[in-house]
Amino acid sequence: MTKQETVAFSKDGEIQKLILENSFLHVEVSALGATLVSLRLLKTKDQRDVVCGLNSAEEYLAHDKYFGACVGRVAGRIDKGQFQINGEQYSLACNNNGNALHGGIHGFNQQTFTYQFLPINKEELGVKLYYTSEDGEEGYPGTLALEVTYFLSENTLRIEYSATTTKDTLVNLTNHSYFNLEGHASESVGNHILQVEAKGLLKIDEDSCPRGAILNLEGTPFDFRKAKSVNDCLHGNHEQLELARGIDHYFIFNKPSNQMKLQGGDKVCTMVVSTNQRGANIYTANYLDGQLVGKENVAYPKQCAICLETQDLGNEVNIHENPTTILRVGDTYEAYTEFIFEVEE
Ligand code: BGC
Repeated sequence: MTKQETVAFSKDGEIQKLILENSFLHVEVSALGATLVSLRLLKTKDQRDVVCGLNSAEEYLAHDKYFGACVGRVAGRIDKGQFQINGEQYSLACNNNGNALHGGIHGFNQQTFTYQFLPINKEELGVKLYYTSEDGEEGYPGTLALEVTYFLSENTLRIEYSATTTKDTLVNLTNHSYFNLEGHASESVGNHILQVEAKGLLKIDEDSCPRGAILNLEGTPFDFRKAKSVNDCLHGNHEQLELARGIDHYFIFNKPSNQMKLQGGDKVCTMVVSTNQRGANIYTANYLDGQLVGKENVAYPKQCAICLETQDLGNEVNIHENPTTILRVGDTYEAYTEFIFEVEE
């Protein structure tokens, strides 16, 4: 049984929500921001929805939490919004403590994508979303033609990104879903068990921006190489935990696939994350505060969920001589992330 349909997501009916369903997963994607609005695991007894989300396009435009959004042109922070490519200086729109965060004031999360469902075949369902980001948008050089594709295949959700540019530019895309595998209404992610195959993490400064200093994980609360609870880290003692009010750090992977594993505290669902990206910003929703009421009238408190934002390092352009986040004219940016779900039926 598969399903593919659209429903209106804005009051005027101009923005659509795209629905994909197979016998394992029910997925809803908003054309605003190519945003993952719902991810329901149909094989659980309660058919639980494991991502936080809001009720309409208007609500997404009114809040800057990036729930489920496709974040870009550059995810993460760029120091003072400044960078150089080919000796030319660029200044971005700054929206976070004097730095540019998640694409700027009007990032991709606020843009309306066009879309096309892919032909249904037995193994796979999909929808491709398109957005053209004009030369100079939020300060970035080059017109960027972007495609984001959501695929469902059995128990796997795969998000693929592809982009080309008319001038050398920066690109670093991610999906910013807030996961709680006990269900999005669960108030804490603390009892989740997390494993991250990482060789280190990037320290942040007071303004949450990483500037290149690496933390060796050994002996720190951030060492998730052996699976342990999220609370084990959050209740630890470390200057970096205080700076971020929890975990909000870029982990550098030590292997090319199956880098992260998350299990709900009730042991019903396990999610494996596998990507061709070099790391992930792991964020424990430290800046939610219970004020924001989302789907099904659920209020989202601090640390009710975890984001596993697979990406390259946003500020790398200001750290390394040959950053991978530069997309050159004629090249194609290509990234993918798979979210693979196992469920105790
Ligand atoms: C950032 C946080 C930020 C959040 C926005 C995360 O990816 O690292 O610092 O507050 O996104 O909701």
